[in-house]
Amino acid sequence: SRTQVGIVGGGPAGLMLSHLLHLKGIDSVVLECRTRAEVEGTIRAGVLEQNTVDLMVETGLGDRLTREGLEHHGIELRFGGRGHRIAFDELTDGRAVTVYPQHEVLKDLIARRLADGGDIRFGVSDAKVHDHESDRPSITFVDSDGNDQKLECALVAGCDGSRTQTRKLIPEPSIRTDHFRQYPFAWFGILAEAPPSSEELIYANHERGFALISTRTPEVQRHYLQVDPDDSVDNWSDDRIWDELHMRVDGEGAEIKDGRIFQKSILQFRSFVCEPMQHGNLYLAGDAAHTVPPTGAKGMNLAIADVYALAKAMDSFFTSSDRKMLDGYTETVLPRVWRTQHFSWWMSSMLHRLPDDSGFGHRRQLAELDMVTRSVAGRTLIAENYVGTPLI
Ligand code: DHB
Repeated sequence: SRTQVGIVGGGPAGLMLSHLLHLKGIDSVVLECRTRAEVEGTIRAGVLEQNTVDLMVETGLGDRLTREGLEHHGIELRFGGRGHRIAFDELTDGRAVTVYPQHEVLKDLIARRLADGGDIRFGVSDAKVHDHESDRPSITFVDSDGNDQKLECALVAGCDGSRTQTRKLIPEPSIRTDHFRQYPFAWFGILAEAPPSSEELIYANHERGFALISTRTPEVQRHYLQVDPDDSVDNWSDDRIWDELHMRVDGEGAEIKDGRIFQKSILQFRSFVCEPMQHGNLYLAGDAAHTVPPTGAKGMNLAIADVYALAKAMDSFFTSSDRKMLDGYTETVLPRVWRTQHFSWWMSSMLHRLPDDSGFGHRRQLAELDMVTRSVAGRTLIAENYVGTPLI
C-alpha cells in the first residue's frame, strides 16, 4: 500500500502527527507494535502544558479534556518544612497547566483518528524503514495477522519512543551525535485511592529525598518518592510508602492523606538528545530523538511541540514542493529541546538528595530554592518554563 507519510510509533508523537497531517489534508499510516489496549492502558505522566491543551482544543480534541481535566494555576515548592507557591496566573499572564493523564490523551487521539478514517495498525512487528535516503522510502512490517506488508511513502516519521529503531538509521558518528546523561536517582510512583492531599502539586526537597504530590481525579492520587536506581517495588510495603511520604512532605500547611495503593512502579532518570533529528527523508520526533527526566513532566509536551513543527514542515513540502522547512526541522525544534532539557535537569538537580552529599549540596539547594522563590524574576522563570513557552 501507499501513503504520503509513514509513521513508526503510535504514542503521543506519532498519533498527534497523524492527526495534524490529516487536518492539512495529508495521508498517513501509523504502525504501532503494541495493541490498542496496551497503548491506552500504560500509565505515564499527567501534566499538560497550556500549549498542549490549546492545540488539543483547537484541533477538536478538547471535549473530554475540558470536562475532566483539572486546571492548575500554581505549584508549591516545599523546603525547610514550608511551602512556597509559584503562582502561574500572575507570573505568566493567565497561563496554566492541566492534569490529564497521557493515556487519556492517547484514547482521545485514537478515537478521533479512527472517526476521521485514519489508518492505525496496532500489534505490528518487525517494522523496518528502507531507502530513507531516496525519494521513495518504504516500511516493511508484519501485521497483527502475521502477514508481511510493505508501505511506500514519501516521508517517514520516527516516533517510536526511547527504545527506537528508527534513530539507528541516522549513522553515528559520521552524521549523528548523541548527548547522554544519567542520574544517581529514580522515582517510585504510586496510584492510590485517596482524597487529594493538596489542591496543587507539591514538589518537596527533603533531607530524606525528593517527594512529589500529584493527582489524577478527585478519587485517585499520584505520588512519587525519590529512591535509588536499583531499588525494587518489592522493598516497599504500603505502610513504608505512606511513612516516607509523611516524613518528606508533612509540615506547615501540608498533610498527606493515606489510602489504598493499587499501582507501584519505578521510573529511571535519563537525559538524552540525538542531533540531528533527521536524515534523508526520515524525521524523528518525541522520545525517539530525546528523553527528559520526569521532574517537570515535559516528555509528552515536548513530543507534541516536535510534531507541531514537523507537520507544518511536511505541509509546506507537499503543498509547494519546498524542502526548506523540512531541511530546517532540526534547527527549528532544537532550541526548545535543549531549553526543556535544561529545565528538567535544573528542577531535578534543585530538588533531589544527592548521594554522598557531605551537606554542602543540600545547603546549596536550599539557598537556590530560597533565591528562586523569593525573587519575582526567579518565580517567573519557573512559571514560564513550567506552563511552557508558545509553540513555533
Ligand atoms: C506528574 C509527573 C511529573 O513528572 C511531574 O513533574 C508532575 C506530575 C504526574 O504524573 O502527575
